[in-house]
Parts: sequence; C-alpha cells; structure tokens
Amino acid sequence: MLNLFAYRLCSRLVRMTAMWACLTIVFFAYSEDFQGSTHKVPYEDEVIDYDHRVSSDRVAQLQRKLENGEIRLRFDPKSGYLKAILEALEVPKSSQMLVFSKTSLQRHSISPSNPRAIFYNDDVYVGFIPGAPLMEISAVDSNLGGVFYTLEQTEKQPPKLLRSTECLQCHGGAKTLGVPGHLVRSVATDETGELDSQNEVSGITHCTPVEDRWAGWYVTGTHGQQTHRGNLIGKAAFQKQAEQPNYFGNLADLSRFFDVTKYPEAGSDIVALMILEHQAHMHNYVTRLNFEALIKLKQYGHVRYLKTQMNAFLRYLLFAEEALLTSELRGNPEFVKRFTARGLKDKQGRSLRDLDLQTRLFKYPCSFLIYSPAFDNMPTAVRDQLLERLYDILTGKDQSPDFAKLRTEDRENILEILRDTKGNLPDYWRRPIDKATNE
Ligand code: HEC
Repeated sequence: MLNLFAYRLCSRLVRMTAMWACLTIVFFAYSEDFQGSTHKVPYEDEVIDYDHRVSSDRVAQLQRKLENGEIRLRFDPKSGYLKAILEALEVPKSSQMLVFSKTSLQRHSISPSNPRAIFYNDDVYVGFIPGAPLMEISAVDSNLGGVFYTLEQTEKQPPKLLRSTECLQCHGGAKTLGVPGHLVRSVATDETGELDSQNEVSGITHCTPVEDRWAGWYVTGTHGQQTHRGNLIGKAAFQKQAEQPNYFGNLADLSRFFDVTKYPEAGSDIVALMILEHQAHMHNYVTRLNFEALIKLKQYGHVRYLKTQMNAFLRYLLFAEEALLTSELRGNPEFVKRFTARGLKDKQGRSLRDLDLQTRLFKYPCSFLIYSPAFDNMPTAVRDQLLERLYDILTGKDQSPDFAKLRTEDRENILEILRDTKGNLPDYWRRPIDKATNE
C-alpha cells in the first residue's frame, strides 16, 4: 500500500517536474526574446485607438485624391484596377510574388491554378486574385502600423478604397507580433491549395532557413543546390522533393502550373520574396516597439522596462540571426534594379539597399527601414536609446555576444553609410572616433 502511494507520488512528481521543465523552457524562450513575444498589444484601447484614429498612409492619401477628383484610376476589363493601383501607389510590378495556399479573406478564389499575386514597395502591399471581387491592400502608417483596405473590382467612378478591420483576425494577432501588420506563411497544401496545417513552418522572417520557406508559394529564379518548399503542390510533390531535391527548384517559368498571362509578370520572384520576408517582420517590429513605448510612457512616464525589447529589435535590424545562404540567388533583374535604385548613397556610392545574395541578403546588414518615417516617428525616448546603442555596437564599444556575428568591417561600413545618409542623427554620431579607446 505504502509502496503504491510512494509510486504514485513519485510519478506525479516526475510529471510535475517535466511540466515545469517545459514551462521553464517556454518562459525563457519568451522572456529572453522579444521575437517570440506575440501577445496582442491592446491597440484598440485609448493610447493607440487603432479603430478610430485617422490614418495618413499612402492609400489614405490616394483615397483623398480620388474623392476630390485629383486622380482617376483606369479600369481594365481583364485585371480591373490592378495596373492603375500599382501605378498610383508606385508599386513595381516586378515585385510580383504568387501564393496558392488558401490563406486570405478570399480563400475560395485562390488555388494552384489561380494563385494570389502580391506586389509591394517600402510601405504598401497589394494583393490581387484574378476574377476575385476584391483587391486587398495594406499600407504602413507611422502611428497605426498596418492599415488594411479593400477595393471592389467593378468599374465605378470614383472607386473607393475602404478601410477594413475585418482583416485583423489574421493581420492583428499572434502571427504579426501582436500588432496590426504583415505576415508570410510557409504552409504545405493539397492539390487544391487547402492547407495542411500539420506541415507548416511558422513565423517566416529573414531568420528562417531557405529550406523551410515558401510552402504554398510559387518561386522563380535560381538558388543553386539550396532547396526550398516552393512549387510543391500536394503530398506526392513533397515526397518527390524528398527523394529528388530541387526537382521543381531553379525554375524560370511557371506556365506548366497555370495560365501566367492572367498576371502582369510571369514569375514569382525569389529576391522579392527574400526582401518581403525581412521587411514585413521589420515593419511589425517598429509598430510593436512604438505601441509598447507609448503605452509604457502613459503608464509609467518612462521606457526602462523595454530594454530587452530594444535589444531584440536591434538584433533584427542588424540581421544578427539571419539565416545564411549556401548558394547564390538570382531573380528578376528588373526588381533588383528598381529596389537598389531607391537607395540613399554614401560618399563611396554604397547604400543599405545594396544586395549581396551570395551568402546573405544585403551587403551591409542593417535594415533600410531605418530610414522609414515609422522608425523616426517612435517616441524620442526610445529612438534616442536605440540610436545610442546602435552607435555603441557599430563603433565596437558594445561587444555584447548578441551581435558577435557582425564583423568589424560590417560595423564600420554601416556606421559610415548611416553618417552620410541618415538625417537627424544625434551630434555624437558625427564626431571622429578614437579607435584606441573606441569612444
Ligand atoms: C484568414 C486569414 C487572413 C485574412 C482574414 C486576411 N489575410 Fe491578408 N494575408 C494572410 C496571409 C496568411 C498572408 C501572407 C501570404 C501567405 O503566406 O499565404 C496575407 C498577406 C496579405 C497581404 C500581403 C502583405 C502581407 O501582409 O504579407 C496583403 C496586402 C493582405 N494580406 C491584405 C489583406 C486585407 C486587406 C485583408 C482584409 C480585407 C486581409 N488581408 C485579410 C491571411 C489573411
């Protein structure tokens, strides 16, 4: 009897210890890393007031111009307002990427033979499905983060870009760092595009190894021996990929899968995908830090509790945990040309938009979104601390192991580029650096 009791007590203790061990791992993973902290920020409450605050993003500005007749959008019988919208919002068609998993408000219209096209620039994302009733558009606002709109694909003068909060069920929670924002999934599908949720790699960012990316997406461009999960439709395709890696890799053309003439471009560009995955998460990060700072300032009058978050933010900004490439990537040269042309160049002609694509995404690993209005719009208390820490990291004064992967020459190059190209930096950024003391 006693033995049985002892046995039960013992097995209970083992179970409890195991449970605690699990909880501890989860707790540490979350507390140590802001990147895992996805609880929803209360952005409907008064401090942010997401639902009621007027947005001044690029789409809201276009809507105003449509209302007062400053601009007209031409309707095309085949693709509706797509071409006119891309032009009006200055989104290059060469950024086209195609996703066939049924991951959208209009899931019924998406399939491997009718994928959803996504286009983007630095602050607008446009979703287009041939034949679907709506175009889905998101924009970045410095105060609100992602702001979402629909546009009916029927001819109307003037057409109306309608702000929607319905989109937040997917774009405003755990998958978007708990703020209104952008997301990219890599979830396998069956032959119809229906999700196989057991087969998902979640939280796709620049930290995700290429081999885990793009399930549910088409991918064009070359990537050498590296494998990825794109262009695989249904279980059999995944099985074949396991036996014969890259049998649908390094594709230039997608016409074997669907009628490519329904889209402005023929491909789903690998380089555009890579940059999207960096950028979407970076946008969410800026929004999250901004929201958290505003809430903390209101609550306590300071942002001292955000140290860990700022550290994680800088790690992402500086690509500290970027997944490295094992072969060169090559995509649509037109996309690369347009993307890099927008870079602010330093005295030596270098910019944060210069691409490497051999072993990593960028030549100088610091996000170009450091120039974005949303970054500069963060409360001064946070921006000052971020810039101070960034300066210490780049000058080598801060030798935190979190940034150990950032080579000395990377630090020097980024510092020089930012000094020449980023406005409103604090004065100490411009002072000559005494290498001996690193001050
Ligand atoms: C059922 C979930 C869901 C809903 C609801 C939803 N989306 Fe999305 N959306 C996604 C997913 C998932 C992606 C990323 C593509 C992928 O990986 O499949 C995405 C991507 C996008 C993108 C490309 C940029 C980005 O964020 O990655 C735009 C633009 C977009 N959605 C707009 C909208 C708009 C506008 C609405 C509301 C009218 C909406 N979405 C509603 C799931 C959803």
